[in-house]
Amino acid sequence: MSNSPLFLKALSGERTERPPIWMMRQAGRILPEYRALRASLSGFKELVETPELAAEATCQPIDRLGVDAAIVFSDILTVPEGLGLPYEMIPGFGPKFPKTIESPADLDKLVGPQDAADSLEYVYGAVAASVKRLNGRVPLIGFAGAPWTIFCYMIEGQGSKTFSKARKWLMQEPVASQRLLNLIADTTAIYLKAQIAAGAQAVQLFDSWAGVLSPKLYHEFALPASRRTLAQLSDEQTPRILFAKGASHSMGLVEEADAYGVDWTTPAASARAAYGDLTVLQGNLDPAALYGTPENVSTEVNAMLKDFGPHHIANLGHGLYPDTQLPAVEAFVETVKAFRYADAAAFAK
Ligand code: CP3
Repeated sequence: MSNSPLFLKALSGERTERPPIWMMRQAGRILPEYRALRASLSGFKELVETPELAAEATCQPIDRLGVDAAIVFSDILTVPEGLGLPYEMIPGFGPKFPKTIESPADLDKLVGPQDAADSLEYVYGAVAASVKRLNGRVPLIGFAGAPWTIFCYMIEGQGSKTFSKARKWLMQEPVASQRLLNLIADTTAIYLKAQIAAGAQAVQLFDSWAGVLSPKLYHEFALPASRRTLAQLSDEQTPRILFAKGASHSMGLVEEADAYGVDWTTPAASARAAYGDLTVLQGNLDPAALYGTPENVSTEVNAMLKDFGPHHIANLGHGLYPDTQLPAVEAFVETVKAFRYADAAAFAK
């Protein structure tokens, strides 16, 4: 048994006495101290772009909730900005890009991968400042959006229920789509390597909008682009987590990650059937389960932990919703921390 932190132990495939826990979107959103920090500033981007402030937001859930990993406070939209499409974060609306990709000719105006990644120095600063402030308490996760999800924002310029404009591009401009996905994939690989160099001990790729694609288009475009990014990180000795929300039809098709996120619509048994018992899986509590009472949360969480069995990282099946109440979140964390595989009848060998 190594002395490495629980989260890294689990990611490396070692058996642990309980699963580690962290929550997607744990930095910010639900914490009053995050809202206070945010209210003292001009906006979201000031927080993302000022390493000391980002580090403060990164550490808030560690101080408050006692989770086993931190995720750097940043956003997936830094990469499109680096590529030449700046974003605005509009309160009550979400992200908005004043400029988008409208035609294949627009691709010629974008920045190249190395220059794009080099322009995101403030993110590497946020990683380094977060590691320093964490002071060894828990490992730090770096992250990026997966190429398809970033492609969606670069074409649409804002959120969408269907991302039909982005899907129209795949149909009508397949060659230009491929070119843009490759550009994003290569930029993202350099970007994640730089986060690792700055101290990130694991990285996660968020393919939040994988679920709007048919399996065919997912296989043709999104999946190869994610693999292209992940493959470029294979020499880094840093675990890679892929979270492709809504793509459970394709579980088991990517080999380049060290752990796979499972969304809440996917039964643990289906994920285990697709990936096997030894693959590290992360997830998948329904974020809406946290609207239940702490007792209900605890029951649901224990059932989830038994369903996944070992080689599991406890998490949600997508990010925390902003109106989630703290007692439910605390019940999630406490239930996971009290769990022991050895006590769970199904695993007592
Ligand atoms: O996990 C963490 O808490 C780390 C920080 C983090 C943020 N965004 C901070 C943030 C992470 C990992 C993200 C990822 C992200 N950003 C994703 C992928 C994960 C997912 O939820 O699917 C996506 C799609 C985005 C794009 C984005 N950023 C949207 C759609 C919005 C607006 C609505 C929202 O989700 O809150 C943001 C803003 C944003 N990013 C906030 C935070 C804390 C809220 C902004 C604020 O405080 O004003």
